[in-house]
Amino acid sequence: MILCQTWTWICLVTFVLLTTHMSRSFGVAKVSVGPPENIKIIDPGHLGYLNIEWTKPGSLHDLTNCTIRYQLRFYDTYTGRWKGVQTSRLYYSDQFDLEKPIQVRLLTLLKGSCTNGTDVLGEEVELVHMPEHKGVAGSRIRDFHCVYFNKEYMECTWEPGSAEPAGSKRYLYYWQRTMQETKECPEYVPSHERRKGCRFPPDSLLDFSEFNICVNGSSHAGDLEPAFFSLATQNHVKPAAVSNLHLAHNDSQVQVWWDPPSGPIAAHCLEYELQITTKNHNGSEQQTAVMEETAFDFHQHPETERTCFQVRSKVNMYCADNGFWSEWSKLSCIPEINQEEIACTFWSPLPKLAAAASVIVVFGTVCLILWMLTKIWRNRNEQKHAFRALYQEKVQKVIPPILNPMV
Ligand SMILES: *[C@@H]1O[C@H](CO)[C@@H](O)[C@H](O)[C@H]1NC(C)=O
Ligand SMILES: *[C@@H]1O[C@H](CO)[C@@H](O)[C@H](O)[C@H]1NC(C)=O
Ligand SMILES: *[C@@H]1O[C@H](CO)[C@@H](O)[C@H](O)[C@H]1NC(C)=O
Ligand SMILES: *[C@@H]1O[C@H](CO)[C@@H](O)[C@H](O)[C@H]1NC(C)=O
Ligand SMILES: *[C@@H]1O[C@H](CO)[C@@H](O)[C@H](O)[C@H]1NC(C)=O
Repeated sequence: MILCQTWTWICLVTFVLLTTHMSRSFGVAKVSVGPPENIKIIDPGHLGYLNIEWTKPGSLHDLTNCTIRYQLRFYDTYTGRWKGVQTSRLYYSDQFDLEKPIQVRLLTLLKGSCTNGTDVLGEEVELVHMPEHKGVAGSRIRDFHCVYFNKEYMECTWEPGSAEPAGSKRYLYYWQRTMQETKECPEYVPSHERRKGCRFPPDSLLDFSEFNICVNGSSHAGDLEPAFFSLATQNHVKPAAVSNLHLAHNDSQVQVWWDPPSGPIAAHCLEYELQITTKNHNGSEQQTAVMEETAFDFHQHPETERTCFQVRSKVNMYCADNGFWSEWSKLSCIPEINQEEIACTFWSPLPKLAAAASVIVVFGTVCLILWMLTKIWRNRNEQKHAFRALYQEKVQKVIPPILNPMV
């Protein structure tokens, strides 16, 4: 009985497997969908913005009443994920990191009366291409970063590579969507004999577009290893410092308000961090608050001796994915402090140490000078006494004591 049931099961499973296999091979046999052909990766010299081109599969040339589409996937090295697109065109362009392998996968998609209305996916083919860059080993620049100061100009700087051959000279080239071809840095930032950065005026910058950069170079030993970067300029903004922090207060409440830093950054694109330092006889305490508004009411404890405020700003999440904090505004306090007091009260430990050291040095120098002066004076006195004694001795010998003027 059990044996019979087992056999039935085996027969059923085999039948299901066979039929599904047969129906599949029947479907494929009807229209064979080959992969796209002649896939090429073309570098038009835009520092990473590449074109991928292909041709229609030969087997589909005399196909009618069916739409052919292509599914392209590529490995996005910036995000570490595969990205996919579908297109009916025979080309696609996107940003790639020229320092990493370029991996592209393509397949053909068929739909229409030729496939009885269902989607038919062809076989996927992969193309891996490693861009070749030669150069003196270890000469690639390091620590590259860009700051877009108050959206007025952008400065990108770097450190030299671990091996910097003799006669090295760096070049920076950049490209963005509106440009036909790359351009060289408009204004290099020098450092001694070298170039350590590039300054871009605002008219050379475009928001929300790939900004591609290549830093390469030449030397007596040959070309230097190039470095490639792609950035979104709007994510590198560092606003100017807030310059006018106002305070108004009564016994229990302090009102703080300020104006957004002047310049091209829209006011609705900024967020602020307010730092409040309160001081009473117990010591001082610090609080911070991040806000979108440009005003804040602070309830102060009646025993507070002094409350100080500082604010800094940054582009908010509605206008960019990233950004830098501005410098802090000048310290504003209630009651106001004069400049010397600021120096005394709000010194960080390092300048404090330096100040203590310099006081010791000055004091020591003064002591040393005083000690030397007294020594000299004493010596002089001793000499004077000695001379006088000698003189008196001589005079007394020559002139009778009554006529001696010195005594
Ligand atoms: C293709 O479609 C047209 C109408 O759109 C029809 O007249 C023709 O018979 C179809 N051809 C085939 C091979 O199915
Ligand atoms: C195509 O569709 C028709 C009607 O829906 C169906 O009768 C026929 O079996 C289908 N053919 C294939 C190969 O799927
Ligand atoms: C640096 O790169 C630019 C742009 O790709 C190129 O025109 C130039 O010849 C390169 N220079 C060196 C020294 O490699
Ligand atoms: C201080 O000012 C706030 C509002 O400006 C007010 O609500 C509060 O009553 C005032 N306190 C005193 C002690 O005057
Ligand atoms: C100072 O410290 C004492 C005890 O630690 C506390 O009772 C008092 O409230 C504090 N004063 C202020 C102004 O914080």
